[in-house]
Amino acid sequence: EQIKKGSYDHFMQKEIHEQPHSLTTTMRGRLKDSGVVLGGLKEHLKTLRRNRRVIFIGCGTSYNAALAARPFVEELTGIPVTMEVASDLLDRQGPIYREDTAVFVSQSGETADTLLALEYALEKGALCVGVTNTVGSTLSRKTHCGIHINAGCEIGVASTKAYTSQIVVMAMIALAIGSDQLSTQPRRESIITGLSSLPSHVSEVLKLDAEMKDLASSLIDSESLLVFGRGYNYATALEGALKVKEVALMHSEGMLAGEMKHGPLALVDENLPIIVIATRDSCFSKQKSVIQQLLSRKGRLIIMCSEGDISAVGPSASCRVIQVPEVADCLQPVINIIPLQLLAYHLTVLRGFDVDQPRNLAKSVTTQ
Ligand code: G6P
Repeated sequence: EQIKKGSYDHFMQKEIHEQPHSLTTTMRGRLKDSGVVLGGLKEHLKTLRRNRRVIFIGCGTSYNAALAARPFVEELTGIPVTMEVASDLLDRQGPIYREDTAVFVSQSGETADTLLALEYALEKGALCVGVTNTVGSTLSRKTHCGIHINAGCEIGVASTKAYTSQIVVMAMIALAIGSDQLSTQPRRESIITGLSSLPSHVSEVLKLDAEMKDLASSLIDSESLLVFGRGYNYATALEGALKVKEVALMHSEGMLAGEMKHGPLALVDENLPIIVIATRDSCFSKQKSVIQQLLSRKGRLIIMCSEGDISAVGPSASCRVIQVPEVADCLQPVINIIPLQLLAYHLTVLRGFDVDQPRNLAKSVTTQ
């Protein structure tokens, strides 16, 4: 086991730091200057373009990865995307039609809820697409087509490198579906350029490790942590909070910043730490106003912003700031989750909990 961990103390730590490499293998052979080549979808591209709706289905971190992909899939394909937590789709027996594309996202490809939702969508006649890390898994065998994320074996119960590779695969799927649209070609080209330089930006953001350890030590006794995001980074807020709760065993909630004034604002005081994601994209000015509203209520803020943007977000001296490299707006969630993964990791170690086997959790939940 020690050999497999190499110089790292825990698998989660190793897998976080492996991401420049795992993302490179996810994209290997699939990115071309003119577009993306996804052998797994080739025969179904016509149907994918013709279908009326994309339904993303998953659980836990895989659901969050799909949520991160939703805005750019809608943008690049023009097809409406709906989100389904697998168990909730089954509970409601939600409507699915033959003209739907159901995309199942699962690291293991063996999660019971996701596989039952797959059976259900197959019965309804939808085109079923799999996004999984596990070749030969039930998910990859039973879907009509799909893409393996090729992130390499993930051992830590808390998913890290699979999350970023899932987002990148869904970006490539969106690029492939949208590749017949002339009007979005410049946008597609800029995303492809962004994808090729993503691993080097991930290496850069990993240098925040010591800073995140220091931040973790200041949060060690907190009872709760809120994370506010919106747009491309709503998913980052949910996934960052999920990491903190599942491994550091600290209550944490990811919230849509646009909903702040409809309830969460009542929680704000000098003690409750709140992470606000305010990197550059079309929601930036709205996030600046969220920061101002939180500051005027004496909120204890940790602001994540793009490098060199401290003065633009306008924090007070009492705020902590996490500066991250700026990449193409729709790929920013891949960068932004990494400091939060590091934070959750260090919080867990400092609080003395089991990093790789958090209490009560399993890597793959194969029963309902
Ligand atoms: C379990 C794991 C989570 C994971 C979820 C979905 O709950 O503890 O880390 O995100 O299952 O797993 P999957 O293999 O379907 O991505």
